[in-house]
Amino acid sequence: MTSPDLPAELKAALEAKLKGFSRGDAAARSAAISKNYRDGGGSGTIRSETDALAYALARMPATYAAVTAGLNALCEARPEFAPKTLLDIGAGPGTASWAAAETFPSLQHFTLLDANDALRQLALDLVRESFRLRDISYERGEARNALTKADAADLVIASYMIGEISTAEQGALAALMWEKTRDTLLVVEPGTPAGYARIIALRERLIASGAHVAAPCPHDGKCPLAAPDWCHFTQRLQRSRAHKQVKGAELPYEDEKFAYVALTREPLEVRPSRVLAQPDVSKVEVTAKLCTPAGLVMSRTPRRAKADYAVARRWRWGDAVVEQPRRPGEGRDP
Ligand SMILES: C[S@@+](CC[C@H](N)C(=O)[O-])C[C@H]1O[C@@H](n2cnc3c(N)ncnc32)[C@H](O)[C@@H]1O
Repeated sequence: MTSPDLPAELKAALEAKLKGFSRGDAAARSAAISKNYRDGGGSGTIRSETDALAYALARMPATYAAVTAGLNALCEARPEFAPKTLLDIGAGPGTASWAAAETFPSLQHFTLLDANDALRQLALDLVRESFRLRDISYERGEARNALTKADAADLVIASYMIGEISTAEQGALAALMWEKTRDTLLVVEPGTPAGYARIIALRERLIASGAHVAAPCPHDGKCPLAAPDWCHFTQRLQRSRAHKQVKGAELPYEDEKFAYVALTREPLEVRPSRVLAQPDVSKVEVTAKLCTPAGLVMSRTPRRAKADYAVARRWRWGDAVVEQPRRPGEGRDP
């Protein structure tokens, strides 16, 4: 499993960039960028070097953690997957490329695409000293235009990107991203109902084009969750001193909520269930909300089923699990 925390090399590159910038200024820029995101805006307000650095200090640790969680789930589902080429769409400061480089030693070619000059320049500065990433190719331009010209890649990632374009464009971009995917496409979004809705729309569209879900869903059918429920996960990450300063935060960690889907060209042979919320462990039983190949299940594992209970009490939100068949009286609620 790849750690959700930024690799030391990236942390050092960010800290080095911060030298010569006022932390107070970076914090003020970060607050303005965050407010714009909360108000439904995108990264259009990131225009200067300070803006880009403030964004990266405040958000890169969390988006990195979310992408890494998605990649870890993908690796668990497909341990043999060893991509050589990566396309990072809406790459910003290069977050998903760093996460993919850390997860897959097999990756040799990294192509990043983004329309934002300031974020592109920051990404290039951050990889300058990196042995794995210093030779990245970073295309500047609108995603669909740039993608049309790009070569297909084994792994394609769009992290916290599709929410910045219109619904109609999301459909067209999804189709193009899939066209450029030789093996696997990973899309990560904020873990909000709106982020989940975008993931579900893209998932349905691409399954209709022949894609199969590697994670998180154990099936290619319709999502069994009904509003106001939505499928999302959470990843804890550590905050560095600079991260805390830029966010004006006290806690040494934060929890990033995210939604994701990893789509592959070949169906998986084994499709374990997914834990959809933190299970409730009591002295009587473990109650867990599972998405299974047969649909949504509230699984109850009684303490008297000793071995199963010992396994179920270690389940965590987001885990892929194999549910044990229950004996009579140890049922599951539909
Ligand atoms: C929230 S940032 C995420 C950056 C990075 N992927 C990450 O996870 O940290 C969204 C990125 O998508 C880029 N973006 C949004 N719309 C785009 C478009 N139509 N074409 C290219 N890039 C776009 C923005 O410039 C920005 O860098």
